[in-house]
This record gives sequence, C-alpha cells and structure tokens, in this order.
Amino acid sequence: MQRLQDRVAVITGAGSGIGLATARRFAQEGAKVVVVDLDEVAGTKAADEVGGLYVKADVSVEDDVVRMFQTAHDAFGSVDIAFNNAGISPPEDDSILTTGIDAWRKVQEVNLTSVYYCCKHVIPYMRRQGKGSIVNTASFVAVMGSATSQISYTASKGGVLAMTRELGVQFAREGIRVNAVCPGPVDTPLLRELFAKDPERAQRRLVHIPIGRFARAEEIAAAVAFLASDDASFITAAEFLVDGGISSAYVTPL
Ligand SMILES: NC(=O)c1ccc[n+]([C@@H]2O[C@H](COP(=O)([O-])OP(=O)(O)OC[C@H]3O[C@@H](n4cnc5c(N)ncnc54)[C@H](O)[C@@H]3O)[C@@H](O)[C@H]2O)c1
Repeated sequence: MQRLQDRVAVITGAGSGIGLATARRFAQEGAKVVVVDLDEVAGTKAADEVGGLYVKADVSVEDDVVRMFQTAHDAFGSVDIAFNNAGISPPEDDSILTTGIDAWRKVQEVNLTSVYYCCKHVIPYMRRQGKGSIVNTASFVAVMGSATSQISYTASKGGVLAMTRELGVQFAREGIRVNAVCPGPVDTPLLRELFAKDPERAQRRLVHIPIGRFARAEEIAAAVAFLASDDASFITAAEFLVDGGISSAYVTPL
C-alpha cells in the first residue's frame, strides 16, 4: 500500500520500539520520514534504514520541538503527519506511596508536556496547509486501572487522551485530525527481560489478554499508519485501542 505517498511525517521516539516500527511502515507506504530521538546512535541508524532525516531533539524541551518541525518543513516543504510517540516508564515511577515528586515530574514532562509542545507547534503548519493528521501515543492504562501501578505514567497517558480528544474536536473543521493510539502491552526487549526473571509476573499480565500474547510493535505501527492515512478520514478525537481485547475483557480464555 502507498497510502502515505510523499507525505512528510515527523515521528518522535523513532529510534526504538513502536516509533521505529512506525518509521519503517510509513516509509514502506511512501512517506518522507523525519526520525526524532534523543538517542543519536539509534536515531541515525533508523533514519539511514528508512531513507529519512534524523533530528536530535528532547521532546520535553520546547525549543527542541520548535526546531524539529522547522527542520522537517525546511527540508521537505510541509508537515503532514505528526506521530507524537516518545515516552518513558522509569522504575522509580511506581506506587503512589513510594513515587517521589522528581520521578512524577520527569514522567509528566517527557510523556505529557512533550505532547502539548508537539501539538502546539505542529498545528500552525497544518492550519496553513488546511490539512494534517496527528497521532499521539497514549496507552491502555489510560482507560483501565492497574494494581501494578506506575502512577505518573498512567496519569500522563490519561492527560494525552483527554488533550487528544479536545484538539480533535477543536480543529476538526480545519482539516486536522487528532487521534490517540492506545497500545496494549508490546513485546519489547525490556518486557522480555523482566518476564524471563519473573514468570509469575508475566503470567499475571498475560491472563488478561484475550488474544493470549503481547503485541508486536509492527501491529501498533499498522494501526498508526491507518490513522495517519486518508483511510481514516472520518476518524478524529478517537481513542484507538490496539490491545488484543484487554479493555473489553471480563473472563478470558485459558
Ligand atoms: N511498550 C509498551 O508495552 C507500550 C504500551 C503502551 C504504550 N506505550 C507507549 O509507546 C511509546 C513508545 O514506547 P516503546 O515501547 O516503543 O519505547 P522505547 O523505549 O522502545 O522507545 C522510545 C524511544 O523514545 C526515545 N526518547 C525517550 N525520551 C525522549 C525524549 N525526551 N526526547 C526524544 N526522544 C526520547 C528513546 O530514546 C527511545 O528511542 C511510549 O509513549 C510508551 O509509553 C508502550
């Protein structure tokens, strides 16, 4: 499919995981990809692989965000798609009883304030163009409670979801669609390592997933490519769950 032919797409956190899989998918579909990541080695590698442009930026710093969209526009002449995806889930963000204010703030800055900066600074380009598609990465934990808490992470993703809804409604008549993708747990090296160490903890999570396994990053990327493309032309302000059925389940198959 070439649904994104010649669209200019800025992807944050494109050096790894969901962002990297989406950079690959967007490029396959014909997009010009701007790879944004704090990690210079991973970012450069990803950009080389997809024939894109690497921009080093910290998405929690406003000047960096302004610069990355400006660079994309200078290089390619438009900014058609913004996949605001970079995020962190550090171990010091845990139960509310033990999570300190510094850990709370760090996660809010990287996961939520960054999406505010990205939307704030990409929407003016899209308004001038009279079109654009924004996809923000939230999470299934924005719609469900977890007893294995990461309190600031969950709150940040709830904020991303609410902000997405509001922006989707506000800019709908200007040709700008704003949606949130809510991935379920994705099979990442970090997750695999954790579960190799603690099979009981893995089982405790897997039992809630009707499909019976974690997502592959490519499966999230496929949903993002759909939301970014004109195939989703009547979808805006949506929370798009790609969670293997977790958020709809009561009793799951064994
Ligand atoms: N992996 C999951 O199970 C899962 C589930 C739901 C939601 N998510 C969300 O999906 C998004 C991507 O997660 P992932 O699993 O692919 O993560 P990942 O750690 O594999 O990749 C994240 C990338 O973002 C970059 N990054 C981190 N902080 C940055 C910053 N301040 N500025 C620029 N780049 C920065 C990192 O260098 C890394 O390359 C995150 O928002 C995460 O919260 C992940």
